[in-house]
Amino acid sequence: MSILNVEHLTHGFGDRAIFDDVSFRLLKGEHIGLVGANGEGKSTFFNIVTGKLIPDEGKVEWAKKVRAGYLDQHTVLEPGMTIRDVLKSAFSYLFELEEKMNQICDSLGDADPDAMEEMMEELGSIQDTLMMHDFYIIDSKIEEVARALGLLELGLDQDVTELSGGQRTKILLGKLLLEKPDILLLDEPTNYLDEEHIAWLKRYLQEYENAFILISHDIPFLNEVVNIIYHMENQELNRYVGDYDHFQEVYAVKKAQLEAAYKRQQQEIKELKDFVARNKARVSTRNMAMSRQKKLDKMDVIELAAERPKPEFNFKVGRTPGKYIFETKDMVIGYYITEPSPVRHHLGLAPDSRYASL
Ligand SMILES: Nc1ncnc2c1ncn2[C@@H]1O[C@H](COP(=O)(O)OP(=O)(O)OP(=O)(O)O)[C@@H](O)[C@H]1O
Ligand SMILES: [Mg+2]
Repeated sequence: MSILNVEHLTHGFGDRAIFDDVSFRLLKGEHIGLVGANGEGKSTFFNIVTGKLIPDEGKVEWAKKVRAGYLDQHTVLEPGMTIRDVLKSAFSYLFELEEKMNQICDSLGDADPDAMEEMMEELGSIQDTLMMHDFYIIDSKIEEVARALGLLELGLDQDVTELSGGQRTKILLGKLLLEKPDILLLDEPTNYLDEEHIAWLKRYLQEYENAFILISHDIPFLNEVVNIIYHMENQELNRYVGDYDHFQEVYAVKKAQLEAAYKRQQQEIKELKDFVARNKARVSTRNMAMSRQKKLDKMDVIELAAERPKPEFNFKVGRTPGKYIFETKDMVIGYYITEPSPVRHHLGLAPDSRYASL
């Protein structure tokens, strides 16, 4: 069953083309790795399928009732909430469902038999959803995820504005995992995670029963959690079954075949052109030349994408200035909590700190 259907997607920013007539179907439960070079359009892909960005052309269609959860590379957290509040907000739609369930229960008494049957059915389906999404064990689920991502140590009552970028990302990731969406969209989730948390996320994704699309430049991580690769290159998106290593093998073979076909065709083109040039002027051979020219005109010419220039780095050897690269005396770095501006950097002198060096 497909949960996302994309047809003839075309998009660009100014004259920078990102997608050219891309179509695909995403199936329930698929674990996808979205790969491609920097700037190919992976994050743009997420923005388009989540509706944040309207594509120039094409259709993006989600199956009914599909909940997609998105972890952005650059999401911002609203100030004034605690870690627990943010994690708990993962369940807000379940609290709404509970509210609806209570309303139905209240009006059951006045309903006629037909309506009552319908209401009982709806109650049953709400109850199932609540059970399936851990509604009755919310607190322990929050604790489990918070522990796994190292958030418990920070204190669940900590204000989120007092946290670092990495810590905030962990909270957003925790919230997303608690939501258990039908499809998780993760953009570089390991960037801010420590080794132990990456190991936990790896296990989590391996066991995730719903679908996910994962953007990651961490190849070993990708290999362990995905079973399908979407590869973005030259405004195309191609689907490969298997992990990243398998994709690379198939891709290399495909590229070699295309290059061989290109060489053969170029040779043929050269020979045909040559024939036409030598024979078109002579009456006796003009017809033959014309038919070769027709063949040339009808030919589906293979084009190879230009090789991207590879960056080259050269570092000049320099003399190190001394034993220390960085040296400071009596330095204090900290945070001032003041009203109304909550956080202010402070750098000053303190009599008790003595010496720091790198
Ligand atoms: N809002 C925008 N306006 C103009 N150009 C944009 C915009 N967003 C992205 N781009 C351009 O589109 C291209 C694709 O960007 P995108 O962020 O999708 O790449 P990416 O594959 O996610 O790269 P990375 O691996 O570095 O995260 C880039 O060339 C980028 O500069
Ligand atoms: Mg990106």
